[in-house]
Amino acid sequence: MLSHKLETAIVLAAGEGTRMKSGTAKVLHTIAGRTIIGHVLEALKPLSPKELRVVVGASREAVESHVKEISPNAITVFQSERNGTGHAVQLALAGLKASGNVLVVAGDTPLLNPLTLTEFLEAHIEMGNEASVMTASLPDPSGYGRIIRDETGSIARIVEERDATDDEKSVDEINTGVYLFDIAALTSAVAKLTNKNSQGELYLTDVIALIKASSNKASAILSFDFTETLGINDRAQLAECANYMRERINLEHMKAGVAIIDPASTWIDVTVTLASDVTIYPGSWLSGTTSVATGAIIGPRTTLDSVQVGEGASIIESHCTGSVIGPQATVGPFSFLRAGSHLAAKAKVGAYVEVKNSSIGEGSKVPHLSYVGDATIGSGTNIGAATIFVNYDGVEKHKTIIGDEVRIGSDTMLVAPVTVGDGAYTAAGSVITEDVPAGAIGVARAKQKNILGWVLRKRSATKSAQAAKKAGATE
Ligand code: UD1
Ligand code: CA
Repeated sequence: MLSHKLETAIVLAAGEGTRMKSGTAKVLHTIAGRTIIGHVLEALKPLSPKELRVVVGASREAVESHVKEISPNAITVFQSERNGTGHAVQLALAGLKASGNVLVVAGDTPLLNPLTLTEFLEAHIEMGNEASVMTASLPDPSGYGRIIRDETGSIARIVEERDATDDEKSVDEINTGVYLFDIAALTSAVAKLTNKNSQGELYLTDVIALIKASSNKASAILSFDFTETLGINDRAQLAECANYMRERINLEHMKAGVAIIDPASTWIDVTVTLASDVTIYPGSWLSGTTSVATGAIIGPRTTLDSVQVGEGASIIESHCTGSVIGPQATVGPFSFLRAGSHLAAKAKVGAYVEVKNSSIGEGSKVPHLSYVGDATIGSGTNIGAATIFVNYDGVEKHKTIIGDEVRIGSDTMLVAPVTVGDGAYTAAGSVITEDVPAGAIGVARAKQKNILGWVLRKRSATKSAQAAKKAGATE
């Protein structure tokens, strides 16, 4: 069992991430709903290291508390000055059990695949290595440390780009920053590191040549998929890695039976669950605790942030957050469900409707141009076009309760707190400030009065007056 083979994992995450130009620590930026370091720690899980050490430095508090939250067993090691990856590992090794294998990874490589790490560990053990470095062949190796092999083809050393000659820079095999070491060999090698390089730092990469010289048990192991080991140093690389992650996530969902019409424009966080036979149209973004049941149709251009979608529901061109959308319910196009919106089965929220902290009962409809705030609506009810739930008196929010089988006339203002009983109606254009009992119609508007001939008298020179005259109107 692999779980017995890995003593410790060390994650290096003390760097400033200056190239991100951000107030947020580099490893706390997110991809697909998980932080960069969260992805790294997730990839390490199947290796079950007995101990996990994370080196923190820049933005120490924020990184430390995030690590504790997602990996409560992790030990954080503080590196007060960034003297290089070799220095970070020196600190992380302090007080560690002296035998067994240790995996070292950077906290900024979120695409690492657990399977690749497992195979890397197997190879390291099988070869009896004291040091193994995972390498990759990159179309553009610039910025990375290069792998320098000797005449026999085995690794001689790693040279950083800034210290490399032009010949060395032309090597396209790079150091991924993923290593396995025998703890004792690593401990004695890091003690010998010097800072004689362009950055004046202790480079972890130099331990390869040191171990090679002392025991000859060091190997470079080429990984197949270079995308897995891409590191993030700037915003462009963050976007690039997010794209690879999106492809990976979408592929998994498609394999599980989700129809994604345009994977290139569909973004799904790792925290989202989708049933088979869900269809997602282009330009949609699913995040948070969103879950979608079978047969539901999402998009185009729809955002679902922590929304529970029932079987066969459809949500078109809409933005929904913190809501529950029942089976066969429909939303959109162009609607906005805010936190606390609950649509029962077969409920409908149509075009240009905003809903907040409200429940809409089974089969009830709010088809056009409305605001529904702080309301409870029964079943089988219809809310006429342009109805506004007037929930805010300027100081406090109030509730509106609408019964079953109610017909709210178009352009009704329901001034909360107010209750409309089962089977009641309101007349179009009413401003309802008092409760309407079951079965009643609430009419709250001025009675219409027609002033005959007004246009002919007051607007005599207009086209309207001409048209009225033609129709037989008199002054
Ligand atoms: C490093 C490697 C390079 C490799 C690349 C892979 C060294 C000297 N170079 O370069 O060969 O190709 O990673 O992505 O190791 N960190 C600390 N403390 C420090 C310095 C760095 O914890 O004092 C952490 C950083 O937060 C980061 C990781 O170590 O997570 C790597 O550091 P970074 O500065 O990104 O190294 P690269 O220049 O990318
Ligand atoms: Ca890096």
